[in-house]
Amino acid sequence: MIKACIFDMDGVIVDSAKYHFLAWRRLAAELAIDFTEEENEGLKGLSRVDSLEKILLKGELHLDNDTKVALMEKKNSWYLEFIKGMQPEEVLPGVREFLEELKTNDIRIALGSSSRNAPRILEAVGLTSLFDSVIDGNKVTYSKPDPEVFLLGAKEVGVKPSESVVFEDAQAGVAAGKAGGFYVIGLGEADVLDQADIVLPNLENFTLERLQSLMVH
Ligand code: G6P
Ligand code: MG
Repeated sequence: MIKACIFDMDGVIVDSAKYHFLAWRRLAAELAIDFTEEENEGLKGLSRVDSLEKILLKGELHLDNDTKVALMEKKNSWYLEFIKGMQPEEVLPGVREFLEELKTNDIRIALGSSSRNAPRILEAVGLTSLFDSVIDGNKVTYSKPDPEVFLLGAKEVGVKPSESVVFEDAQAGVAAGKAGGFYVIGLGEADVLDQADIVLPNLENFTLERLQSLMVH
């Protein structure tokens, strides 16, 4: 019995994951660190600070805290430039329809995102009112792969993890969902998201009926 669905945002609701990558790659280039798309897979879902630490580790750079804060601000200002003017049309295929179907069927909807920019993006694409709870990077102590963000989401909508489904496009997010005891649907490539219960390319034409059939099999 499914009572709640919890969605990651970047790469699940909107295609902003590509902008995070472009902004991190630009920052890495300034630091003379090579940063590939493959390495970016390991960053998806991580908090801003954890992402920076991974890049610095790769470049074997040891920086003081003030410098790190300035670098994160720089990355975020580029990222905000990319997402500026984001429109409702940028919601990924099938997402709005699926959320509306969940709403009609009285299934709770929560956001479980590591991004501190999540509320602003939901607002820009006109989805805020569909969410019963929004847990973002400002509300958690531990970043994915820790399950805190999803556990908080389930708690806020009053549903147990075992009765909730998590939708994720990141390795760290899939791991977080599994660690929290959720059924996890990976969105992307099966070889990358191999910890998920099932992997779909995206949510295009996805329905509640399909979800229910996946979970009984
Ligand atoms: C999401 C993205 C990450 C991003 C993180 C923090 O989880 O998948 O790529 O680094 O949020 O986002 P923020 O918008 O707060 O920098
Ligand atoms: Mg994501």
